[in-house]
Amino acid sequence: MQRIFSGIQPTGIPQLGNYLGAIRNWVALQRDHECIFCLVDMHAITVWQDPAALRQQTLAQTAVLLASGIDPQAHILFNQSAVSAHARLGWIFNCVSRLGWLNRMTQFKDKAGKDRENHSAGLYVYPNLMAADILAYKATRVPVGDDQRQHLELANDIAQKFNHDYGVDFFPAIEALIPPGAARVMSLRDGTKKMSKSDPSAQSRIEMTDDADTIALKIRRAKTDPEPLPTDPAELTARPEARNLVEIYAVLANMTAADVLARHGGEGFGPFKSALADVLIATVGPIASETRRLLDDPEHLQTVLRGGAARAQAIAEPVVSEVERLVGFLK
Ligand code: TYM
Repeated sequence: MQRIFSGIQPTGIPQLGNYLGAIRNWVALQRDHECIFCLVDMHAITVWQDPAALRQQTLAQTAVLLASGIDPQAHILFNQSAVSAHARLGWIFNCVSRLGWLNRMTQFKDKAGKDRENHSAGLYVYPNLMAADILAYKATRVPVGDDQRQHLELANDIAQKFNHDYGVDFFPAIEALIPPGAARVMSLRDGTKKMSKSDPSAQSRIEMTDDADTIALKIRRAKTDPEPLPTDPAELTARPEARNLVEIYAVLANMTAADVLARHGGEGFGPFKSALADVLIATVGPIASETRRLLDDPEHLQTVLRGGAARAQAIAEPVVSEVERLVGFLK
């Protein structure tokens, strides 16, 4: 059975993009993979996090993952900082990875913007730690949204260079599992910007804890253009907001964009938005209410994470000890 590893930053409430791009696929992959899912709190502090909020968000995200259907008994769910193998392998990878490779990472450029000098060194080496997350478990498949594609290519480069430099065939190749639809869910306020937990406007995203009224309101207020929906999917290319809403609907209703337009093409956005709000509420509503229930018992959530960390540690420790031996650390 192939081993899956994937992670999410506990920097806010998971949004619809996290769910459709990643979490929903994690749940499905549990059927025929050995899965390790991680709340990457060490990645989160590459930009400032209030300590109390980070603790709270780690628990809140654990609740959302459980409410979405992650099974912490059959699989592993834990927070990154609880397993020291990530930091140890991350450091070794800082020494394998090349500055030239990191300089090409578009996500660093997007996040740092023009003010590059004032960002943490951690944000810059972020992809090296991500490679360590996956390879500490020798995981071979990584389900992510489209925005992580380049990071996974870098992880493969690191694995190959390590194998080459130390003359071993130690790390496996990693395959990115990117869903065919909704791999890049866009902001509800701007169809050219990715939906993100860190966008200052909560109106730009559906959070997985939003109630029915909030979802309906956010969809009603979602930016659109004045034209009715097209009947030909090719016409969506030039209409980013319409395209985003149609794609969200299609994924949630298990339809293609063409099917959605066969039903709603020619309609104004009013009725389409109300149909979209209905399918969203049907998916998000039960997750949101189960999340609220789970958050009433933070002790239970911590117990889940501690149990997951112990099992993750048992897999990663021998791998990373062997890496340390290979690089020449005296044991
Ligand atoms: P993060 O926390 O930004 O996002 C978690 C997952 O959600 C996906 N995602 C999206 N998918 C579609 N549309 C969107 N608008 C959208 N926004 C986010 C992301 O692609 C991701 O799969 N670097 C990672 C966390 C990480 C990781 C890892 C992932 C750390 N180590 C090892 C895989 C393997 C991140 O910041 O995800």
